[in-house]
Amino acid sequence: MSEIDLPENEVKILLVDDEVNITKALRRLLMDVDQYDIHIANSGQEALALLADEPNIGVIISDQRMPEMTGVEFLKEARALVPDAVRILLTGYADIEASIAAINQGAVFRYLTKPWDDETLLQAIAEAARNYLLLAENKRLNTLVLKQKEELYEWNNRLKHRVLDQTSQIRAKSDELALGNQRLRSSFNETIGALAGIVEMRDRRAPGHSRNVAELVTVIAEKLGLPDAEKNQLRSAGLLHDIGKIGMSDKLLSKLLHSLDSKELQEYQNHVVRGQAAIDMVPALREIGVLIRHHHERFDGRGFPDKLKGDAIPLGARIICAADMFERKLIQFAKSDALSSALKELECEWGKSLDSGLRIALEEGAQEVYRHLDISAEVLEAKVSPKELEVGMQLGDDLYSGTGVLLLKQGTVFSEKSIEAVNRCFMIDPFERDIRVLIKCSEPD
Ligand SMILES: [Fe+2]
Ligand SMILES: [Fe+2]
Repeated sequence: MSEIDLPENEVKILLVDDEVNITKALRRLLMDVDQYDIHIANSGQEALALLADEPNIGVIISDQRMPEMTGVEFLKEARALVPDAVRILLTGYADIEASIAAINQGAVFRYLTKPWDDETLLQAIAEAARNYLLLAENKRLNTLVLKQKEELYEWNNRLKHRVLDQTSQIRAKSDELALGNQRLRSSFNETIGALAGIVEMRDRRAPGHSRNVAELVTVIAEKLGLPDAEKNQLRSAGLLHDIGKIGMSDKLLSKLLHSLDSKELQEYQNHVVRGQAAIDMVPALREIGVLIRHHHERFDGRGFPDKLKGDAIPLGARIICAADMFERKLIQFAKSDALSSALKELECEWGKSLDSGLRIALEEGAQEVYRHLDISAEVLEAKVSPKELEVGMQLGDDLYSGTGVLLLKQGTVFSEKSIEAVNRCFMIDPFERDIRVLIKCSEPD
């Protein structure tokens, strides 16, 4: 007998025949195979009842010729009850045609003829049992894959929601941080502005000087295409560039530069180093401190305190130097032609004390910043009280508080914020009610 490839696991086998001798003979043939668990029924009806209780039958072997219900009829019904069971029909030669038709209809896996050959029968049953186990395993794996797929989908969904949740939390946190940063930056700028006001109170000969320089250096930086961070830094340095003058004596401050003796000149020149030292304790202001130190260096190397020359002078310090010099010249002339006169005066400085690479940016920037000095026919002058101020009006003269603190410099265009600040100051430290403003007439349609 050739070797039979038996199934690895146990398989329930149902033998159906009305002849007891046949079922006994089949049982004897199969009982030596450990993997087979044999069940017997003597009619189609009995077998169907058994299948209802034993749905895990793997192989059904049925005789064709039985009273009441033929093998093919029984197997058709059995297929509905246990579709996964492999069905084999035992048939005589006379019924072969009916058996082939049953196979073609899918009711029967294969047929075997009676009398059977033991080896052929054992081979067929072993093959059917292996097929059944394979199908069952395949089904089990498919169910497992389906379950894992559902779990994966569920897990994926939960993960997606978690990521969305966390993303929205991070976004909210980041918005909160951005807002905090914005508040911090604006409070930093306001503090620097207040410090600049204190510097200006010390040097009454140059009202609004620090704020004018700050505005001009910002416009120059814009024209040179400097990044926002550098522009902000330059604006702060412009506001604080003369902070070292706070420590200078009243006598020294009241004197003109060319009338200083050597000791007084040294004391005056110290304001750049003193300015840097004053703010060096604040790490956020250290880079601004370097610009303050060098804002009186000359491009030709004849400045102070370190006699730096050309590009060795930080660009920011060169810009402040040019704006500072221009602003000081501007106040020497009558308002009507101050702009053109100051620019003309500066001409001889380019390439000497000033970096000529900044000339175009300064000249264009000055035209923008000091446009208010050139009062054209399209601008009306008016006097208004703090309550009557409106956004877009331009301040005609420097505005001081009652006790002499410079609030806003001439040329400032009013915003909601500055109008609120002026009204608040009017309550705290009242000043002359009439404020001179310039109002631009709207263009006719
Ligand atoms: Fe200075
Ligand atoms: Fe200055």
